Amino acid sequence: VAAQSRLKAIKAGKVIDVVSGTVLNQQVILIDSNTIVNIGSGLAIPANAEVIDLSHATVLPGLIDCHTHITSQPSGDYYGDIFRKTPMDYAVTAHIYAKRTLQAGFTTCRDVGAAAFIDVALRNAINAGEIEGPRLQVATLFIGSTGSHGDLNGFSPFLSFQLPKEMMGVADGVDALRKQVRYNIKYGADVIKFGAGAGVLSEEESVGAPQFSLEEMKAIVEEAKMWGRKTCAHAHGTDAIKQAIRAGVASVEHGSFLDAEAIQLMKQQGTYLVADIYNDDYIMSEYKRLGYPQKILDKEQLVGRTQRESFAKAVKGGVKIAYGTDAGVYPHGWNGKQFYYMVKYGLTPIQAIQAATINAADLLGWKERIGSITKGKWADIIAIEGNPLDDITLLEKVKFVMKDGKVYKNELKK
Ligand code: ARG
Repeated sequence: VAAQSRLKAIKAGKVIDVVSGTVLNQQVILIDSNTIVNIGSGLAIPANAEVIDLSHATVLPGLIDCHTHITSQPSGDYYGDIFRKTPMDYAVTAHIYAKRTLQAGFTTCRDVGAAAFIDVALRNAINAGEIEGPRLQVATLFIGSTGSHGDLNGFSPFLSFQLPKEMMGVADGVDALRKQVRYNIKYGADVIKFGAGAGVLSEEESVGAPQFSLEEMKAIVEEAKMWGRKTCAHAHGTDAIKQAIRAGVASVEHGSFLDAEAIQLMKQQGTYLVADIYNDDYIMSEYKRLGYPQKILDKEQLVGRTQRESFAKAVKGGVKIAYGTDAGVYPHGWNGKQFYYMVKYGLTPIQAIQAATINAADLLGWKERIGSITKGKWADIIAIEGNPLDDITLLEKVKFVMKDGKVYKNELKK
């Protein structure tokens, strides 16, 4: 990124005000280094400010994806990805995915599980300005029980190796789980992620069955809280979801099999739903070609449609929704594709945008700093051509990206 002046003034044709849920016309946004210092119509532009002309565009706060795995992406060699790659292979390519994600308009991601602390290194290098990428809140190792979604399953017990503890957060029982939470935090976790129930893209038999007891889940959440961290839970199955909510997680990830009681509980506790409802399309069309075992494809068949229906029920039931895609299951940079499905399954366009901005910022605990174009917040600002409230898929084509007051992309220049 070339040197840029400290004071900037964006002339915005339209601004999506995610706080009021309205569209403001002809606004000026003043930015001093990395902070929004003012926004309004007819603001005087200081003579020494660099003017950025977005007067023919629609301006929004930087988008936030609350569920990514930014350090990896399937290569098409399923067994090779597991057995022939080292953490270094993932580490040297992670920055490419980070850049693609930022270029797509996602200025912040909550990254919910990576091996070998690659996510921590990536976050730190981005924060230091060494590489381009979104702000990251990272979970480090996914915490899961023996034989769970977070373990490596389907192989002979006689294989004479065990993955080192830097690769996977497999732990069982209250004490070991508290220790695992401490270990993750010690080496850089901003947030704790655990598997409340079984998964799709893993070789354990069931999809959705609980994989920790309520007591274990409570221990994880409580320990994380003690260290000032929020917890999110991977959960597809109804019982796994309910136990995770009862344990006090901040968000349920996936949330595929919701029933009325689960929805009620989420509302009561203020639990966010982060549902990756684009994913099914990509898995069903590409994962056979990418070499995934039939068992996994069969599991996806059970989940895909029901998850979307559950999402619609949750929206109707008034559950808080935050945007999260599971990017990394599909190519990074495609994060915006999910907006279409969120609108198709019940959100209004403005609600879908709020899910990816102000709600996501709230879930991350960063509402004071990001999530809206508001005086005092960090200057994470994007722009598109046209009005996303008329066509939500325009968010798949972000033309301008500013993060922390720096311009990383501008295809709107005349
Ligand atoms: N990481 C998730 C899992 O393996 C992906 C689920 C994808 N499928 C879906 N319909 N959302 O469980």
